Amino acid sequence: MSELIEKRRSVREFQPGVTVTKEQINRLLEAAMKAPSACNSRPWEFIAVTKPEILDEIVRVHPYAKMCETASAAIIVVAVPQKEMPEGYFPQDCGAATQNILLEAVSMGLGTCWCGVYPREERIASFRRLFKIQEPKIPFNVIAVGTPAESPAQRGFFEESKVTYIM
Ligand SMILES: Cc1cc2nc3c(=O)[nH]c(=O)nc-3n(C[C@H](O)[C@H](O)[C@H](O)COP(=O)(O)O)c2cc1C
Repeated sequence: MSELIEKRRSVREFQPGVTVTKEQINRLLEAAMKAPSACNSRPWEFIAVTKPEILDEIVRVHPYAKMCETASAAIIVVAVPQKEMPEGYFPQDCGAATQNILLEAVSMGLGTCWCGVYPREERIASFRRLFKIQEPKIPFNVIAVGTPAESPAQRGFFEESKVTYIM
């Protein structure tokens, strides 16, 4: 697991023309759906896209998702907020599911980039229109998936100053 965490980077340039199969996508989604969620509420749904025209539409409506031009697929994580207990936890639950996708992708030799949609109102509105996502569901993010065509340098690092030790 440490190796997957170490290797995971946001990839923004993919090898064009390489397909990602439905089986590969389902493996990513299986990892997502095994993430923890508050009271096991599992407040998520997923839209898996490989159609090039729709990947291009994502580039058109999201200001920072240009990498979808070369991505083989995109996964839209859709939050399904709970009306009753445990309301309010969906960002954490959907974030955990997203991180599982990112790490599973590394284990499969795939690259990803997490592009935020929620809580930006204009992006939420665009994704609602594009994918016909009705309230109370909320488009949460879009994850570009493909075979990396770049190896970005490491950005994450340990900062002891950010830790309070009580031991
Ligand atoms: C909530 C969230 C939203 C993000 N949105 C975008 C985005 O819209 N476009 C993008 O290129 N990267 C986006 N990123 C990726 C971050 O820029 C990236 O994780 C950060 O710079 C650290 O680099 P690394 O992922 O390679 O470690 C997002 C990441 C997170 C967690």
